[in-house]
Amino acid sequence: MATLRMAGARPRVSTGVPGLDGLIEGGLLPGRTYVVSGPPGSGKTTFGVQFLAAGAWQGERGMYVSLLEDVENIVYDMTTFSFKIEELVSSGKLLFMDLGEMLQASAEFPTYKQLLTKVTDQVKFRRIQRLVIDSISAIKFIGSDPKFEKKQMGEFFRGLQKIGCTTLLLSEMTDPERYLPEHFLAHGVIFLHNFLSDSRMVRAIQIIKMRGTRHDCNLRRLEITKNGLRVTSMLKSI
Ligand SMILES: Nc1ncnc2c1ncn2[C@@H]1O[C@H](COP(=O)(O)OP(=O)(O)OP(=O)(O)O)[C@@H](O)[C@H]1O
Ligand SMILES: [Mg+2]
Repeated sequence: MATLRMAGARPRVSTGVPGLDGLIEGGLLPGRTYVVSGPPGSGKTTFGVQFLAAGAWQGERGMYVSLLEDVENIVYDMTTFSFKIEELVSSGKLLFMDLGEMLQASAEFPTYKQLLTKVTDQVKFRRIQRLVIDSISAIKFIGSDPKFEKKQMGEFFRGLQKIGCTTLLLSEMTDPERYLPEHFLAHGVIFLHNFLSDSRMVRAIQIIKMRGTRHDCNLRRLEITKNGLRVTSMLKSI
């Protein structure tokens, strides 16, 4: 039998992205799983690392799990931002973990279950509070029988809920009008957009859903500078 919890004023976890927390009642709900989707170069990795760095500077240990890209490259690229991740990595407050090789090396197809087991072990062992997985799309590329994918993904989300971290799952998206299974399963979904308008590249962010939260729904400008992501005004015309 489930224990009922009543919603009152709840503590929030800052995203670390200036201009975003104010659009979602102060931040994310702790222990929940959020999906950040966007096309190539839209800022997914930067968002993830910025979120972890913000937590790590406040003493919350974070882990970035990479399934596709070599973590050395990710760390190298992220040092171009002002997050000072070198300091966080060397003090053990921020960990980068390459699970791509482990998953590819396994004799059978890697599954959500394998990923969950590995991530759970690490989260418990290293007392991780903020988690980023880059990306959930990697599992689809190499997943087993598609018939079972949604079920396995559902179990994966339930498993993440149990480990207690505030989690960002990064996901690849090419068509913002085509929702993906992870969008239905997540507690919240944020889209990053990156498109051409009159030969100018426009970056934007949009909160698609945020369970238990009154949130802004508008398309807002997103800037990426050496300080990372920053949300600014509403996008009036495209
Ligand atoms: N130091 C920096 N200052 C300003 N902008 C930067 C800096 N470093 C990278 N960028 C910009 O940020 C963009 C987003 O990078 P990021 O790697 O976060 O995107 P992504 O969505 O993870 O991409 P991918 O789909 O390839 O994984 C880059 O393509 C580049 O335009
Ligand atoms: Mg990336």
